[in-house]
Amino acid sequence: MARIAHLSDIHFGANDPKIVAATEAWLHQQQPDLVIISGDLTQRARQEQFREASAWVNRLRAAGLKLLVIPGNHDVPLYDIFRRFGAPLRRYKRYISNDLCPFYEDDEVAILGLNTARSLTIKDGRLNHEQMRMMRERFAPVAAAKTRILVTHHPLFAMPIGKGGELSEAVGRHDDAVKAARDAGIHIALAGHFHRTYAEAAQKMVADAGGALVIQAGTATSTRLRNAEPQSFNWLHVRHFDDIELQVVVWDGASFQRGHHVAYRQQDGAWTAREISDARAAQGMKVAVAARA
Ligand SMILES: [Fe+2]
Ligand SMILES: [Fe+2]
Repeated sequence: MARIAHLSDIHFGANDPKIVAATEAWLHQQQPDLVIISGDLTQRARQEQFREASAWVNRLRAAGLKLLVIPGNHDVPLYDIFRRFGAPLRRYKRYISNDLCPFYEDDEVAILGLNTARSLTIKDGRLNHEQMRMMRERFAPVAAAKTRILVTHHPLFAMPIGKGGELSEAVGRHDDAVKAARDAGIHIALAGHFHRTYAEAAQKMVADAGGALVIQAGTATSTRLRNAEPQSFNWLHVRHFDDIELQVVVWDGASFQRGHHVAYRQQDGAWTAREISDARAAQGMKVAVAARA
C-alpha cells in the first residue's frame, strides 16, 4: 500500500507559520511514502518567499521524506513583467527544483507531475501538446498493476467551486489533456489551485474521460480561504488502483485533525464511495463524492 500525503497551495508570503510548522510535525510523525506538493509554493514569486519555501521543502527532504513538487500560477511573477515573460519560473527552478515535470515510480505507483503555470494567463493554466505526449510516453512502459497518478496545479476538469455550484475554468486545451490522461490510463488525477477539497469520478465531469478519480486538495497553509473552507491536505492510502482511501486532514484552528474519510472502489469502470466513520472526524468537512454505481 502506498501512503501519500498531497499538499497544495502553500503560499509563502500569505500563509500562517503556525500551520506551516504543523504540516512538518504531521509529516514527520506519519512518514508518508511520498509527499506530493501541487503548486503555489509562494504568493507572488518573490525571492524572500521562495527562500522560505525552499527552507520548508529542504527541511522535509532533510527529514528523509520523498517529495514530488510542481509549480503553480503564483510561482510565476505577476508584476515583474521582465521576469514574467523572460524567465517565468527561474526562481522556482533555483529555489525548489529544476524539474518542472517530475516523475516518480516504485513497486506500486507511477506518478507524473506536469507544470500548468504559464506567463500569458494570470490565473488559468494549460498543458501543451509536448506535455501530453510526455504523459503518454512516461506511462506507456509502466506495469499494468501499478497505480498511475497524474499531478497538475490546475485541474484537468471543470468542477463546482462556489456555493451555488458554478463551474471553474478547466485547464487550457482540456479536451486534448483529458484524452491524453485517458490514453495514459491515469487512475488518479491530483490537483489544487481552488483552495477547495473535492473528489469526483472523471466521467461524472467529462463523458468519455476514462476511469480516473479526480481528487482536489484544499490549501494546506494559506490564509486566503475560499468559502471559508479551512486549511487542509489529503491523506491517501492507495492499496490498488481500484481501491483507494482518502482522508482529509483539516486545520481546526490549533492543530491538524483527521476529517472526512472515504473509501473509493472502482468496479466495471464506475467508482463508488463509502464513508468510513471516524470518531475524530472534524465536523462539517465534506468531500463531494463520486459516482455511485
Ligand atoms: Fe493557490
Ligand atoms: Fe493557483
